[in-house]
Amino acid sequence: MPKIKVKIASRPRDKYPVFIKEGCINSLPDFLKENNIGKKYAILTDSKTKKIHGESLLKFLKKNKIDAELISFDQGEKSKTLKTVAQLAEEMIKKHFDRNSAIIILGGGVVGDLGGFLASVFMRGISYIQIPTTLLAIVDSAIGGKTGVDLEGGKNLIGTTCQPKAVFVDINYLKTLPQNQIINGLCEVIKYGIIKDKGLFKYIEKNLEKILNKDAKALEHIIEKSIKIKVKIIEKDERETNDERILFNYGHTFGHALEKMSNYTLLHGFAISIGIVMINCLAVEKKIMKEKDAERIKTLLKRAGLPTTSMKKPGTKDILSDKKRSGDYMNFVFAKKIGKAFSQKEKITNL
Ligand SMILES: NC(=O)c1ccc[n+]([C@@H]2O[C@H](COP(=O)([O-])OP(=O)(O)OC[C@H]3O[C@@H](n4cnc5c(N)ncnc54)[C@H](O)[C@@H]3O)[C@@H](O)[C@H]2O)c1
Ligand SMILES: [Zn+2]
Repeated sequence: MPKIKVKIASRPRDKYPVFIKEGCINSLPDFLKENNIGKKYAILTDSKTKKIHGESLLKFLKKNKIDAELISFDQGEKSKTLKTVAQLAEEMIKKHFDRNSAIIILGGGVVGDLGGFLASVFMRGISYIQIPTTLLAIVDSAIGGKTGVDLEGGKNLIGTTCQPKAVFVDINYLKTLPQNQIINGLCEVIKYGIIKDKGLFKYIEKNLEKILNKDAKALEHIIEKSIKIKVKIIEKDERETNDERILFNYGHTFGHALEKMSNYTLLHGFAISIGIVMINCLAVEKKIMKEKDAERIKTLLKRAGLPTTSMKKPGTKDILSDKKRSGDYMNFVFAKKIGKAFSQKEKITNL
């Protein structure tokens, strides 16, 4: 089974595997037993994923003599709050979970971020396993150990950095994922291709229909490539302090502004797609990128069903609210060509 090992440079003892394979969830019981992860498990999921996959995972674990119980909360970003964390922690106490318990996170990025945070603070920290079930969570949020919840003042403002004991990427879960969520996650995969891997970008160009039709081989290929790119960068830099990790922000400066302007009605990947086209426009203007590369990227985004234009353009004020700014300057990530990106400080008022 393809397996990627994650070894964070600053904590060499925290290494863990990422399994990527159709059906790999079948080896979860043995993994839990062999590695002594916990005595009792809380399967944390959201209301929608619970019905589609949570109940069957619980049954399967029980059949394999794993002591587990389901806990869940209402699906959606609106639940990603400290209040939900407190409610779930109270529920875990009532259900007799303790410091020898562990959390199995089953769901998209909302469950992943909230669940990782809950695990990192419950009884001062317990182990957790990630089972991401959206393409976005698989290629992005489940990898890297960034956990957290939203505040009224903004998204992801309270959080921890805490790595899981393992990540199980089972492509079977994607069979039930709505098409717009596949396209949403695909935007991040295209982003990885643009910033780091021309081969991945070309593969998506060639195999787009297969990917959109959820062909397992094609999905496994782009997932493995994407996770490898993310892992390579986070291993060096868990806390996002160097230029390499900033590259993940490609398309996100304008994208985040657009997401916020839409009051989060625009899916993240859809906003990032427009953000990518916008930053490429600027790169062409500044003669950083060739027009033909910008066109090639736009064509692929369009073919994938992603938007490439927006009625509203983010102004300086919208961009300034992005947390990655310092003073009037901000780090912008530009692609020089497909497969090669770099970051550069720009004065925002000059845009
Ligand atoms: N920690 C990080 O590094 C990081 C990185 C990127 C994004 N994020 C976070 O990820 C979140 C977004 O994640 P998301 O897009 O996965 O959203 P999500 O978790 O809300 O999932 C989207 C929808 O899909 C449903 N769903 C999940 N799996 C399903 C399946 N297999 N079949 C059918 N429906 C399914 C969910 O119930 C939900 O309604 C945001 O909160 C964002 O801040 C975190
Ligand atoms: Zn993103």
